[in-house]
Amino acid sequence: MCGIFGCILKNGNAAPIIHAALKRLEYRGYDSVGEATLYNGRLYIKKDQGKIDEAHKIHNLDDLPGNLGVGHTRWATHGAPLEVNAHPHVDCSKQIAVVHNGIIENFAELKLELENRGHVFISKTDTEVIAHLIEENLKTNPSLGLAEAVLEAVGRLDGSYAIAVISTKEPDKIICARNESPLVIGVNENAIYFASDIPAFLPLTNRAVMIEDGELVILSRKGFEIRKIADSGAVSREPKLIDWTSEMAVKKGYPHFMLKEIHEQPACLRNTLRLQEHYLELMATFPDRAREVFLVACGTSYHACLAASYMFSKLAFLATYPVIGSEFVEQHGKSVNIDSTILAVSQSGETADTLAAVNCARQRAATVLGLTNAIGSTLTRVSRVYLGQQSGPEIGVAATKTFTSQLSVLVQLALRLAKKRGKVSQDEMDFLAEKLEKLPDTVETIIRGQEEKVKQIAKKYKDAKTFFFLGRGVSTATAYEGRLKLMEIAYVPAIAFPAGESKHGPISLVEHGFPVVFICPKDETRKTLMSNIMEMKARGASIIAVIEEGDEEIKKLADDYVEVPKGIPEVLSPIPFVVPLQLLAYYMAVERGHNPDTPRNLAKSVTVK
Ligand code: AGP
Repeated sequence: MCGIFGCILKNGNAAPIIHAALKRLEYRGYDSVGEATLYNGRLYIKKDQGKIDEAHKIHNLDDLPGNLGVGHTRWATHGAPLEVNAHPHVDCSKQIAVVHNGIIENFAELKLELENRGHVFISKTDTEVIAHLIEENLKTNPSLGLAEAVLEAVGRLDGSYAIAVISTKEPDKIICARNESPLVIGVNENAIYFASDIPAFLPLTNRAVMIEDGELVILSRKGFEIRKIADSGAVSREPKLIDWTSEMAVKKGYPHFMLKEIHEQPACLRNTLRLQEHYLELMATFPDRAREVFLVACGTSYHACLAASYMFSKLAFLATYPVIGSEFVEQHGKSVNIDSTILAVSQSGETADTLAAVNCARQRAATVLGLTNAIGSTLTRVSRVYLGQQSGPEIGVAATKTFTSQLSVLVQLALRLAKKRGKVSQDEMDFLAEKLEKLPDTVETIIRGQEEKVKQIAKKYKDAKTFFFLGRGVSTATAYEGRLKLMEIAYVPAIAFPAGESKHGPISLVEHGFPVVFICPKDETRKTLMSNIMEMKARGASIIAVIEEGDEEIKKLADDYVEVPKGIPEVLSPIPFVVPLQLLAYYMAVERGHNPDTPRNLAKSVTVK
């Protein structure tokens, strides 16, 4: 997730306006920043790695001439956060500049095609292909206007984008286009703006025009003109008045970042399905030939590893060992060796306990792989191969969208491994791949259809002293994650363990009204899980079940239930089944008067051991 912004002013300099707007978009990405303006038929660019303030101190982002320009604050997905990969990106002639938020899935083939036509690329980003595509279109057909050249270029793109293009050839225009990534226009008497989000221009105007998927917009001093990308048909749309405060706007109207990020999960899951195939294939080669594979992480990321251990086992018939980062050295420090592979999972890529485990493994010549949300983080630098999980910045301290994104990447890895090891048929692969593609919609359905019900359950149990979270099989990981969420943001002591463990001790805690959350996908564990539900119910527990839609048998046993759409394969079930638990923790926190975004005693990234 990145932030783009630009403007055309009737008078005054664009650069300071762009700089201030990028600061208001910094929550969307902050590992590099850049601006480009047009003046006297020339393109002026300043960009660098690092946060906006750091780059401004070095380059003075306000000091660019001209009253037309674009800017970008980056959250790296392709290419480390270095100056060379910072936006704006230009074409060979340096007459065209592009800023982009999104992921171009087919950038590698487009890049090869353009290189074969003589284009020279500077960066490792997907975005740069857009600038060269437009240049190629204008070269092939000089009679094209800039808007037409952009229209043709975006017609070649697969994936998500919100782009803005400026060119010395038409220095009075900005051409924008969107598919899936957000884009909004702001208008006032003196200027016209485009941005990823309303907060960027809200202090300048509250008149906004939402741009839809598949639309291109031509901005000029006369105003804006919307066209459909498919057939360049004109679209008319009037500005709307925005009555949000700036603070509300940053949260897009949500009361907290955590709720916004829970709701962002469908979009994030779609992004995780845009991983570059060759990185997945490359990463899959290492666990395949290792003598032992450790999955190392902390907290929520550890729960993703726990779920992944079931995925690797059930799909690829590969034994992997989930290990909590802070325990790795004690548990395996002496035995890990050159034949070991460590897959470290860390959304921040900076968790000290996880990195300590990685360092120990590296010292003993083990192969280290990384899965992270922060390209350019320490974990990416110490990993032999890493994958970016493409979740965008997660502001809430509690991990939500980064967890489900991690699960999506890990199950894709398990599928590649399964195929490489010949453990699943092509039909099974296709079936699971199709179900994975549908997961974003499934999560959308759960949020839309069940959020209100979860809110009511939170109200009913808001004073409960503790909870059990129980599951079997891969749902054990889901149970652990639901418990962590409730503990860390609602401060409710909760206990999670494999449901089969109940009679080996914990069931002694159960008394009348004791809330027990069961995660109940209709998988192989269902039968034994039913008996666990019965044994809890027999002791007076209040049963809260996350069930598959229409599961009448469990509905009869449960005091409360939340439904998840049917037909989710077992190995994918943690992704949809965790969403009601995230919402339960969120609404319990709100009911108990806590701010879910800033839970006491916790930091977003635990960089100390
Ligand atoms: C999750 O909600 C917590 N904030 C915490 O457990 C977190 O998952 C853990 O610190 C690991 O962080 P990482 O993924 O950045 O390594």
